[in-house]
Amino acid sequence: MKSTTAQAFLPRGRSLSALRAAAEKCQGCALYRSATQVVFGEGPAHARLMLIGETPGDEEDLAGRPFVGAAGRLLDQLLQEAGIDRAQTYVTNAVKHFKWTPRGKRRLHAKPNSREINACRPWLEAEMSCIDPQLIVCLGATAAQALLGRDFRITRRRGEFHPGREGGQILATYHPSAVLRAPDDRRRRTMRAQLLRDLRKAAAWLAK
Ligand code: URA
Ligand code: SF4
Repeated sequence: MKSTTAQAFLPRGRSLSALRAAAEKCQGCALYRSATQVVFGEGPAHARLMLIGETPGDEEDLAGRPFVGAAGRLLDQLLQEAGIDRAQTYVTNAVKHFKWTPRGKRRLHAKPNSREINACRPWLEAEMSCIDPQLIVCLGATAAQALLGRDFRITRRRGEFHPGREGGQILATYHPSAVLRAPDDRRRRTMRAQLLRDLRKAAAWLAK
């Protein structure tokens, strides 16, 4: 039977390097077929903070690294303003392969569906077990709903702390791409400020 989740592709050893190597061969859903390569999480195994986005974008797909495109540059700015060192943070995505639809010569980002999110969940679970972060910040609804349930709404509940596994906490906020896509400048400024406030909250909690 054809695999419908990543589970069968997980390695026996669960170190980050073993996971990363095994993920390169994942065929747990169809997304691997049209992507250049897997974009696994990145950061130190001892990270206290883990950031989870949605899926790699076009630039991430080509680079093989998470959050290196436009959203990643905004994220870097915000982390710096919040006093969070990205080098000490584990950064990953809920879904590890780029999903896209052709638009002329461009590859347009497409939102992963719940089947793909569930298929990829074993990788995210394995990363969380390995890192065992004190705080997880979900960037956007995909990550938030993967961890906090399908009914979770960022607009209503961003910036709140929720109990996670092993005494860890989970906080959800906007995805930096949502700021970039805001319909007008005013809204963009507001969302950026709210995202920054949530990251500052995360930083303050970690400093306690
Ligand atoms: N958006 C994401 O959710 N993740 C990335 O790695 C890049 C953009
Ligand atoms: Fe495997 Fe996730 Fe890629 Fe699907 S998106 S092939 S489950 S790594």
